[in-house]
Amino acid sequence: MSFDLLAPHYRWLEAAVAGGVLQRARLAHLAVIERAQRVLLVGEGPGRFLAVLRERRPQLPITVLDASARMLDQARRVVPIGPTEFVQADLRSWRPPVGHWDAIVTHCVLDCFAPASLACVIAPLASAATARADWVVTDFTLPARPGWQRLRARAAHQLMYRAFRMVTRLEARHLTPPDTMLHNAGFSLSNRRHFNHGLIQADHWRRASIA
Ligand SMILES: C[S@@+](CC[C@H](N)C(=O)[O-])C[C@H]1O[C@@H](n2cnc3c(N)ncnc32)[C@H](O)[C@@H]1O
Repeated sequence: MSFDLLAPHYRWLEAAVAGGVLQRARLAHLAVIERAQRVLLVGEGPGRFLAVLRERRPQLPITVLDASARMLDQARRVVPIGPTEFVQADLRSWRPPVGHWDAIVTHCVLDCFAPASLACVIAPLASAATARADWVVTDFTLPARPGWQRLRARAAHQLMYRAFRMVTRLEARHLTPPDTMLHNAGFSLSNRRHFNHGLIQADHWRRASIA
């Protein structure tokens, strides 16, 4: 799986396909992340969330992790200054320091993984979080209730997963909700917002104590 091919086109493709809705979802819980002391942005891609966060908190230590060198290049361009660390690593084998970050952000990245890999990704990330960490997650989702919104979301997922699999060799074939895994890692859902008729979901999860 590699997003290198997509990296130079990601921003305009997002604007063409989704307009501003994805960025609104990414920013839905910005206030939570703004008050953190150390933030880990996971699979940040070209850095749209990073740019806003850095502008709001110029001195905040931010670690940006992505497997794609070309995505990281794009992200570096949006924040030439400030204490930002860029890490190129595959989440499936990355072993982060324990209890290091009090905020973790995974925007549109957990939905890239098949169920077995997702578990291998969430466990180390959870161990890298402090005992009172916040975790903000944006992902595509399926509306719970039957109806046109659910049918539309299902069709959109099929299209997206096919397209992403062709270009990036994405391992996931469909969406795996991370809720149970986050819950098992000691996080509780604090706030959930929906966008675009339930196609996109922005969550704030909180950890009250070490799992
Ligand atoms: C769909 S893009 C999302 C980019 C951005 N976070 C956003 O909100 O649009 C998924 C990102 O996760 C990264 N990614 C995918 N699989 C990864 C892995 N196994 N390890 C690290 N990063 C990965 C990709 O390189 C890409 O930048």
